[in-house]
Amino acid sequence: MKNLLLTLLFGLVASANVFAQKFEDLAQTPPMGWNSWNTFQTRIDEPLLKGMVDTYISSGMRDAGYTYFVLDDGWMTMERDKDGNLVADPKKFPNGMKAFADYVHSKGLKFGIYNCAGTKTCAGYPGTRGYEYQDARLYASWGVDYLKFDWCNTEGINAKEAYATMSKAIRAAGRPMIFSLCEWGQHQPWKWAGKVGQLWRSTGDIGAAFDETVARNGWKPLSVLNILDRQDSIRQYAGPGHWNDPDMLEVGNGMKYNEDKAHFSLWCMLAAPLMAGNDLRKMSEQTTAILTNKEAIAVDQDPLGVECFKYYSFDGLEIFVKPLANNELAVCFLNRSNRPQNISFDWKEHVINDAISKTNIDFNQTTFKLRDLWAKKDIGTTGKAFKQTIGANDVVMLKLGK
Ligand code: GLA
Repeated sequence: MKNLLLTLLFGLVASANVFAQKFEDLAQTPPMGWNSWNTFQTRIDEPLLKGMVDTYISSGMRDAGYTYFVLDDGWMTMERDKDGNLVADPKKFPNGMKAFADYVHSKGLKFGIYNCAGTKTCAGYPGTRGYEYQDARLYASWGVDYLKFDWCNTEGINAKEAYATMSKAIRAAGRPMIFSLCEWGQHQPWKWAGKVGQLWRSTGDIGAAFDETVARNGWKPLSVLNILDRQDSIRQYAGPGHWNDPDMLEVGNGMKYNEDKAHFSLWCMLAAPLMAGNDLRKMSEQTTAILTNKEAIAVDQDPLGVECFKYYSFDGLEIFVKPLANNELAVCFLNRSNRPQNISFDWKEHVINDAISKTNIDFNQTTFKLRDLWAKKDIGTTGKAFKQTIGANDVVMLKLGK
């Protein structure tokens, strides 16, 4: 009888594994890394990327917690080989992709690559449609740890099914890989992608602009604020192992210092995957200081894994609150108006309630220590009103600790 029960139990566990899809535990906090797209588009090759890997280390990015090194579109030849395999472009990668992946791994980083659910990638290279299992096996043989999977050229394809198929193919290939869905939020992936992958894009592509982007080739990317405004309603779908992805960072790609700082702060408040997208070899000191601010990163990586919510909004001033582990909080004051604004925030007049994280904080009951995460200074407690002037398109980001 006991044996029969054990056999049944074993059978149940085994069949659960057959149906299990994504590798669990790969992204208990939002993934952090670098991706080639925002700066280089398809102009990538081994010498350039090796230089990027080297500065990834020497600039302190790896030590600040960035782990993944992801090649976006443009790494392949325009055709598969006679056996249907994808081929790393030999002009760009003369030593092949395995050798480059080995180089990335030798520096203590993880390696990521890109393809698309459609017949072609967005830049016109061979897509994965119909080759899911074959491509996943190839990636596994190269040592890929992260796959970004796009949504161009998908006419007539069902998003849920296409992404589930690729997720199963990764599982079958046997190598744990983060699966990053990039269908731009078109089919509400936050409602179904948690079972399939670790992160999913919630919007179209970001551009390096805070407020208003400029059209290029008749198409307009989204600004930091455009994307920010689309996150509040989907925050309940994110959590450890499954994240909304408001797209990669544009820090260091042409915005002003205050705008870069605000963009980074807001992405940390959103528990966003932090994928830098700048030329690491040419980072200014200010850019490096933003991307490697460990106290801001700790807010992003907080183990509770809860996205911020908009607590207050008036006249271009917004206040975001992110519940943290141990009943602590991060609070970000954003001035999105075009003039400096004075804030005077008397904590004791506020009660913070958040049903999603079951947070309930009354500042008359609990006093917190305040830490300014950009000034890197302790600035008193919530016992006293917080007063400061914030410049246009700038933030103050505070951690409220016990
Ligand atoms: C889409 C994605 C981008 C990038 C490009 C590559 O636009 O959303 O992030 O991967 O394709 O062609």
